[in-house]
Amino acid sequence: MADWWDADGKRHRKQFASSGAAREHEHRETALAHAERAIREMKLAGKKGGVKRSPARVADRGTIDPAKGKLGVMIPGMGAVATTFVAGVEAIRQGIAKPIGSLTQMGTVRLGKRTDGRSPKIKEFVPLAGLDDLVFTGWDIFEDNMYEAASNAGVLDQRLLDQLKPFLSTITPRPAVFDHNYVKKIDGPNVKKGKSKMDLAEQVRADMRDFKKTSGASRLITMWCGSTESYIEPTAAHQTIKSFEKALRENDENIAPSMIYAYASLMEGVPFANGAPNLTVDLPVMLELSRKNEAPICGKDFKTGQTLIKTVLAPMFKARLLGLSGWYSTNILGNRDGEVLDDPGSFKTKEESKLGVLDHILQPALYPELYGNIFHKVRINYYPPRGDNKEGWDNIDIFGWLGYPMQIKVDFLCRDSILAAPIVLDLVLLVDLAKRCSELKGLGIQEWLSFYFKSPMTAPGLYPEHDLFIQLMKLKNTLRHLKGEELITHLGLEYYD
Ligand SMILES: NC(=O)c1ccc[n+]([C@@H]2O[C@H](COP(=O)([O-])OP(=O)(O)OC[C@H]3O[C@@H](n4cnc5c(N)ncnc54)[C@H](O)[C@@H]3O)[C@@H](O)[C@H]2O)c1
Repeated sequence: MADWWDADGKRHRKQFASSGAAREHEHRETALAHAERAIREMKLAGKKGGVKRSPARVADRGTIDPAKGKLGVMIPGMGAVATTFVAGVEAIRQGIAKPIGSLTQMGTVRLGKRTDGRSPKIKEFVPLAGLDDLVFTGWDIFEDNMYEAASNAGVLDQRLLDQLKPFLSTITPRPAVFDHNYVKKIDGPNVKKGKSKMDLAEQVRADMRDFKKTSGASRLITMWCGSTESYIEPTAAHQTIKSFEKALRENDENIAPSMIYAYASLMEGVPFANGAPNLTVDLPVMLELSRKNEAPICGKDFKTGQTLIKTVLAPMFKARLLGLSGWYSTNILGNRDGEVLDDPGSFKTKEESKLGVLDHILQPALYPELYGNIFHKVRINYYPPRGDNKEGWDNIDIFGWLGYPMQIKVDFLCRDSILAAPIVLDLVLLVDLAKRCSELKGLGIQEWLSFYFKSPMTAPGLYPEHDLFIQLMKLKNTLRHLKGEELITHLGLEYYD
C-alpha cells in the first residue's frame, strides 16, 4: 500500500508494485486532471467569447445520395488479393474476425477543434455501403470458385476457409478477357472468344448487366485485382473515345485486356479502380469516358509492403534535411503474382510504379545537395517456398551533419494479400461514395484516394503526392469538405489567443 496525491492535493491509498509505480500513477493522474481542467476552461471561455469559435459550419457541398440497396463488386482477377478480400468481408460479417487495417471500418475523423471532442468513425460520418450490402462477382482465366482459389492462394488458414466455404463456393468466375501476350507466365481455359476486342468489350458489358440483374444490386463498382500486364506506353489509340473504339474494332495490339474491362465498365457508367500498375485507366480516353459518364476512376498499384515503408521513411529524411545517397530494395515472394512478375515485361510495369516514389517525395530539383545523386534500385525475386509471405529488405544509405554517412536496414516480413485486402475494401466503399457525390462523380480521377496507391493518378500535368500522411490528410479533408465541416490545417494558433 502507498499514498498518492491528486491534482487537488487530496490523499489516496492504493496497492502499487513499487514506490516508482506510485509516483508514476500520481504524475499521470495529475497531468490528466490538468488537461481536463484546461479543456473545460477553454470551452467555457469559448462560450463567453474569450476563445475564437470555429466559423459556423457551411452547408453540405453538393449532395450525397444515400447508400441504398446492394453494392455489386465486380473483380477481374480472382486470385490471392481478391479472395482474401472477399473471404475477409464474409468472416467479418459472420463476426469471426475484425476489419483490421481498414480506414473506413476502424478509422475516425476529427471534426472541429482539438478541444471539441468530436471524432466520429468515418463510416458513421459519411454514408458508406454497409458490409452486409456487398455482393460479389468476378472474372478469371481459371475456373476455380472463390473457395478453391482462396485455398490455392494459401493466404488464409484452411480452417477459416472451410467455415466460409458455403458462401465462397457460390462465387464462380465468369470467362475472362485474356491475352497471353500481356501476361506471359500464365495461361488458363476460362477465356472469352470474340471476333474483335470490341466484341469482347460487349461481352463484358453484358456480364455486368447480367450481374446487376441477378444480384439485385442497385450500384456497381469494378475493382481490378488481375495480374500485372506487360509494360506499354500510351499510343494514338489511347487518346480519344473515337480512336480507342476504332482500335477496339481493329484489334489493335496496344489495347490490353485490362483496358477492355475498364472501357466496358466506364461505358456502363460504373466506377473503375485499378490495383495493379498497368496503365488501364491512366489514359486520356478513360479520363474522357469517366467524366462523360460520371464513373470515377482511380489507381494505380496498391500501396502495401515496401513502398508503404518507403513513403513513410522518405518524408522523414526530407523533413529533417538528411541526405540520401542510395536505396536498395529487394524482396522475395512465391505467390502467383511473384511468378507473373518474374517476366521482364510485367516486372518493368511494376518497376516504373515503384521507382517514381522517391523523386516525387524528395524533390531533387529543390534539394540538389541532398537528393541530386541517389542510386535507387528495386528487385523482385520469385521464390516459391515463401508463397504469399513476402520478405522485403531495404538498405538505405543516408548522410547527416557535415556529410557523415549512416545506414538504415529494414527487414519487413509481410503478408502481401493481408496488407492489400483492407485497401480493396476501403476503395470499394469510397469509390462508391464518390459515385454518389454530386461534386465528385464527374471529376474523373479521384486524387483524394492517392493514399491507397503506389503510383497515384493525377490530373494531366500535376505531379502525384506520395507522402502517406499528406495523402491521409487529403483524404480526410475531402470527407470534411463533402460534409461541410471545417478543413483541418493544423495551424492551431487559436488555442493560444
Ligand atoms: N498483394 C499486394 O500486396 C499487391 C500490391 C500491389 C499490387 N498488387 C497487384 O494486384 C494484382 C493481384 O495480385 P494477387 O497477389 O492477387 O495476384 P494473383 O496472381 O494471385 O491473382 C491475379 C489473378 O488474376 C487473374 N488474371 C490475370 N489476367 C486476367 C484477366 N485478363 N482477366 C481476368 N483475370 C485475370 C489470374 O489468373 C489470377 O488468378 C497483381 O497485379 C499485383 O501486382 C498486389
